[in-house]
Amino acid sequence: MSEAFRVGLLGHGTVGGAFAGLLAERAESIERVTGLRPELSGVLTRSRGDFDDILERSDLVVELLGGIEPTRDYVLRALQSGRHVVTANKQLLSQHGEEVFDAARSGGVQLRFEGAVAGVVPAIRVMSETLAAAHIERVHGIVNGTTNYILTEMARTGASYAEALADAQKLGYAEADPTEDVTGKDAAAKMAILARLAFNAAVKLDQVSYEGIERLTADDIAYAKELGLSLKLIGSAERIGSGVAVHVHPAFLYADHPLASVNGAFNAVTIESPAITEITLSGPGAGGVQTASAVLGDVISAMIPPPSLPPPAVELPIVTDVEFSFYLHLEVADRPGVLAQVAEILGLQGVSIRSVVQKGLGEEARLVMVMHPVLESKFRAAVELLSRLDFVREPPRVIRVIEETF
Ligand SMILES: NC(=O)c1ccc[n+]([C@@H]2O[C@H](COP(=O)([O-])OP(=O)(O)OC[C@H]3O[C@@H](n4cnc5c(N)ncnc54)[C@H](OP(=O)(O)O)[C@@H]3O)[C@@H](O)[C@H]2O)c1
Repeated sequence: MSEAFRVGLLGHGTVGGAFAGLLAERAESIERVTGLRPELSGVLTRSRGDFDDILERSDLVVELLGGIEPTRDYVLRALQSGRHVVTANKQLLSQHGEEVFDAARSGGVQLRFEGAVAGVVPAIRVMSETLAAAHIERVHGIVNGTTNYILTEMARTGASYAEALADAQKLGYAEADPTEDVTGKDAAAKMAILARLAFNAAVKLDQVSYEGIERLTADDIAYAKELGLSLKLIGSAERIGSGVAVHVHPAFLYADHPLASVNGAFNAVTIESPAITEITLSGPGAGGVQTASAVLGDVISAMIPPPSLPPPAVELPIVTDVEFSFYLHLEVADRPGVLAQVAEILGLQGVSIRSVVQKGLGEEARLVMVMHPVLESKFRAAVELLSRLDFVREPPRVIRVIEETF
């Protein structure tokens, strides 16, 4: 049996509870990759567990309590006693980051915090590992899912700020007290952390100027739409001369900006540097299981030096016949009954039409259709039959359609 790797868990709420479940579920595959068997050595909540006892029995501490005290004290003590720490605590890092980093440095242990910014989007890892040698000039981020959801709904439905906020609260995207989110303070804490990594400068929360979305009106958004602009709460961190500027504020974006199409509760971070031009990372910005999966990724990284090779491959069957939605373009003779015949042949092969456009072009006509998802083999069989019909003038043209929406 492999050696145990003992994980002490502080906090068993939304993220902590999901983390405990994920650790149990993924334990076997983590053991395969790391050669160590992860196990939960203790859990601390307000009503359960004792911090000193958990620390004594842990190789690594996962901090998912939130807040500053007693969290700061627990994290410092864990690092000073030689335990690695993984946290998702943006408040702590944006206000006491240097103290915590120093403690990890002098304890010779790892401190990882991917879950603290943009949930599962791997912005921290990419900035501190992949782009460690890039000279980052600027970071832009949509780093608060609540406000992005509210602004997206205002643009989509014409709702007022108050209506969209009430809707977000009903759906669980906003807290009963949304102050930290809607004032921009939550995003400011995350931008302070990103700025620390981008510029290697100690930026604290109180050095970030922030403005929220509470005063925005449906009108602002409606006019912006006419101008081809979308309104987002944007965090920005950039080098200005020999200094840095870090802000959070609502901003209009032109449609071709990489953050303009980030909608709903999604987060995204855009990193700019002369060496890389620009990289945008996006994905779910919060949520118990999503954040827990970023936390678990950090735990695995602390268990082993980052693997430079993937683990040994397993044999999986390669699937060749896959369901797709298809676009089909047919040039046909313009005569009665053509569309009905095409539809019948498709139907007989189990292909159903989702939408169709028919255009007369003198003697000829053009049929352009999009199908509902269907196995490729069935669709290809139908196209083969269609291509043999006397009224089909040119080989049918087929392009796949990706329908996924998030
Ligand atoms: N929720 C998200 O989607 C999300 C996303 C990204 C990052 N985060 C971060 O993850 C951390 C945890 O967030 P969460 O949403 O999971 O919080 P949560 O649901 O409120 O859970 C907090 C947990 O910590 C425990 N706790 C709090 N103060 C304590 C104390 N003084 N002593 C002992 N236990 C204490 C609570 O105990 P009881 O169970 O006894 O109350 C609860 O189990 C925070 O730093 C947050 O910013 C959260």
